[in-house]
Amino acid sequence: MSTVIVRLPASRPRRYDIRIEPGLLGQLGACVTRLTGGRYRFAVVISDSTVGPLYGRAAIRSLAAADIRAELLTFPAGEAHKTIASAQRLWDGLARLPVERATPVIALGGGVAGDVAGFVAACYLRGLPVVQVPTTLLACVDSSVGGKTGVDHPVAGKNSIGAFHQPIGVLIDPLLLASLPQREWSCGLAESVKHGVALDAKFFAWLKSHADELADIARRPNRRVAESADLLVRLIRWNCRIKAAVVSADERESGLRSVLNFGHTVGHAIEALAGFGRLHHGEAVGIGMMVATRIAVARGLADAKLADELGSLLDRLGLPAAVPGRLPAGEIVRWTKKDKKVRGGAVRFVLPAGIGRTKIVNDVSAEEISRAIEASR
Ligand SMILES: NC(=O)c1ccc[n+]([C@@H]2O[C@H](COP(=O)([O-])OP(=O)(O)OC[C@H]3O[C@@H](n4cnc5c(N)ncnc54)[C@H](O)[C@@H]3O)[C@@H](O)[C@H]2O)c1
Ligand SMILES: [Zn+2]
Repeated sequence: MSTVIVRLPASRPRRYDIRIEPGLLGQLGACVTRLTGGRYRFAVVISDSTVGPLYGRAAIRSLAAADIRAELLTFPAGEAHKTIASAQRLWDGLARLPVERATPVIALGGGVAGDVAGFVAACYLRGLPVVQVPTTLLACVDSSVGGKTGVDHPVAGKNSIGAFHQPIGVLIDPLLLASLPQREWSCGLAESVKHGVALDAKFFAWLKSHADELADIARRPNRRVAESADLLVRLIRWNCRIKAAVVSADERESGLRSVLNFGHTVGHAIEALAGFGRLHHGEAVGIGMMVATRIAVARGLADAKLADELGSLLDRLGLPAAVPGRLPAGEIVRWTKKDKKVRGGAVRFVLPAGIGRTKIVNDVSAEEISRAIEASR
């Protein structure tokens, strides 16, 4: 069993553990009992319409074995349903149940379910405790850690309505990734690449040397993740350590944490413009990292070979690196201005300054972005 600790000097809880262990879903009840001090005999599992039928029953069974009665609430799967309408229906569901201020909510699913369930819990009765149980690689390596929750808005954009709400624990069972579609697998690897390029050169080198093995897991017919459990635990643990360190240093994104937005300024724009769900989040982030890297290269901040290295790693991991031809550069640039990272009208960009190092700038011109987009077609 591996544990990564997230320390939060300025908030409550002041720390929580990320536990990574094959088969952990079977211990959900025991874990929730420990996390809540055994005081609550009722819990709500929130999941989406794909993951609920796959793992909801096992979650409820494990809770029942620990004498915790649980109800499963689901909402339709996919980024298109990461909306306030889904949150509203889940609040309606909570209102029909015997939910009290301290009733634990188990967020079971990928980044969408984790963000929606986290947001629903953050607002209901001004905050129910949440245990994140991620079921996509992206959620295991990124979204389940750090307490960012929220939903998208059709005009204001991705994650524009949300709250910081730290979980009381994160329970990662890599065996749940066995059913993950290949495309989703690659998306999780994209956020891993982000961690490497932005923060940890050693991790980037490790990803390069294990790229074929990691991509191969996704290609296996029934995913047979158990055979690669050690590699997966290593991958997830390394990512969680990187993210935990960043979140501990800057919980509310007033500084360091914004480096995790590497690839996301343009990524969010093309994800939204392609139509939420068409281009998956991790795919859009991969393309966004390419564009940001090309801006950095054009400015002389990074060496041209970084763009080649990143492009070839994305390719080996089964990720697109090119901006879709049908998305006009002008529209992408306009959309980036709506991003939450805009401060005082200027778009903030996280640019790589080599591997493992970044520079945050707010003077990237529309022409620079357009040129980098065209060079990335
Ligand atoms: N909160 C954060 O810090 C943070 C960080 C990164 C990304 N995100 C958010 O995460 C979201 C993307 O997350 P995602 O890529 O996990 O998407 P997702 O949650 O939509 O999952 C992708 C698809 O896989 C399905 N699925 C999930 N687990 C499965 C499993 N084990 N087996 C089979 N199918 C499974 C889902 O039902 C969905 O259809 C975006 O909305 C993004 O904004 C949040
Ligand atoms: Zn992301």
